[in-house]
Amino acid sequence: MKISVIGCGYLGVVHATCMAELGHEVVGIDVDKSKIASLSEGKPTFFEPGLPELLASALASGRLTFSEDIGRAADAQVHFIAVGTPQTGDTYAADLSYVNAAVTALLPHLGAGDLVVGKSTVPVGTAEMLHAMITAGSDASLAWNPEFLREGFAVADTISPDRLVYGIAAGTATGAGNAEAILDEVYAAALAEGTPKVVTDFATAELVKVAANAFLATKISFINAMAEVAEVTGADVTQLADAIGYDARIGRRFLNAGLGFGGGCLPKDIRAFMARAEELGVDQALSFLREVDSINLRRRGRMVDLVNEMLDGSAAGKRIAVLGLAFKPNSDDVRDSPALDVAVRLVELGAIVTATDPEALETARRKRPELTYVATAEEAVRDADVVVLLTEWSEYRELDPTGISTLVRGAVIVDGRNCLNPARWRAAGWTYRALGRP
Ligand SMILES: NC(=O)c1ccc[n+]([C@@H]2O[C@H](COP(=O)([O-])OP(=O)(O)OC[C@H]3O[C@@H](n4cnc5c(N)ncnc54)[C@H](O)[C@@H]3O)[C@@H](O)[C@H]2O)c1
Repeated sequence: MKISVIGCGYLGVVHATCMAELGHEVVGIDVDKSKIASLSEGKPTFFEPGLPELLASALASGRLTFSEDIGRAADAQVHFIAVGTPQTGDTYAADLSYVNAAVTALLPHLGAGDLVVGKSTVPVGTAEMLHAMITAGSDASLAWNPEFLREGFAVADTISPDRLVYGIAAGTATGAGNAEAILDEVYAAALAEGTPKVVTDFATAELVKVAANAFLATKISFINAMAEVAEVTGADVTQLADAIGYDARIGRRFLNAGLGFGGGCLPKDIRAFMARAEELGVDQALSFLREVDSINLRRRGRMVDLVNEMLDGSAAGKRIAVLGLAFKPNSDDVRDSPALDVAVRLVELGAIVTATDPEALETARRKRPELTYVATAEEAVRDADVVVLLTEWSEYRELDPTGISTLVRGAVIVDGRNCLNPARWRAAGWTYRALGRP
């Protein structure tokens, strides 16, 4: 199929590349000139495992091109909207100006029977509004097809999603059956593998995405609330998680207590969901999400306090090694990163912070130039009074406690992700502390 993908950020470029890899002819369009130039040369503008190889092969196949010119979308029949929907500056609501601008720019290039497919995460009701705009201004139609990819696994999640959700308007110009048939052709490979498909209305499709993120955020904040209780009772939250996780109704995944969630999706999505619920007069239904958000943010403060405690109550003038800056491993994304937030707060306490991350040094430097960055964990821990692990990259999990104990000034580690083996670190002479554990 001939496809355009409007917006080539974390979501759009992975989607465009994977669609080309699956045999479709794809043009990726973005308003950011430098992004288009870099992608056209086969250089992704962010770190995502497997993407550089796939991008190279898709470009070489001739099926993938990038352009700043929205007019290039005119050749395509299916148009994915993958632009950002960040939190607005002063409220919890999502900023829909990029989505509106993208659809407005696309309108004059839509042909009869074209399908615009919304992928961005939007407040419920947006698709209905866009659908009216599209059907009034063209002979095209709209479907809503939320994206569930996880950064770090984005390629695999796009090629083999765990489910497909189509939000479709009945009785439109192209007809519901037609929109479904077009999407089935786009996703023929995944459907042939047996990927479950839910065909529904716009509102349900939009809500599926935010409900999924609200659930995941709640699961993380639930275990972090248990960590708060564990901290005052001497209990061990990681054992608690193991024990409740054996219950298949609960499950162990997403029950890792620690510094909490961040990134470009979960925090802004639960806030936008609350803002939308308020507009709809059902804010009470989601008031628990305010607590989910608060628990999550409290973990960052608790982490700073714990580090301070390990430095006899005064971080000022002490040397702190920060391992990890990305909001999660296998990503260079530092949007609302708990790790970067904690690192900055430690600097604000007067500590001398030396931070490192396998992939997020440049993204972190751009956002927080005031921190001192080094390339390796070994450099970061040199002469440190305390080592603070903030993102659970596998290379940090595998650090040799005996080896690095010769580099530090104080063999003290605070594990913000509960990802190290305390017995191993203690046996090597370290003082080990973590959130939610004795
Ligand atoms: N990142 C993820 O893991 C993920 C997963 C699922 C859903 N989403 C959702 O996907 C959307 C995009 O997220 P992202 O992380 O890729 O954001 P991003 O900020 O990385 O990318 C957005 C891109 O859109 C471009 N853009 C903005 N306005 C444009 C316009 N008018 N025309 C063309 N391009 C335009 C920007 O230049 C940018 O490159 C958001 O709604 C997000 O919630 C993201």
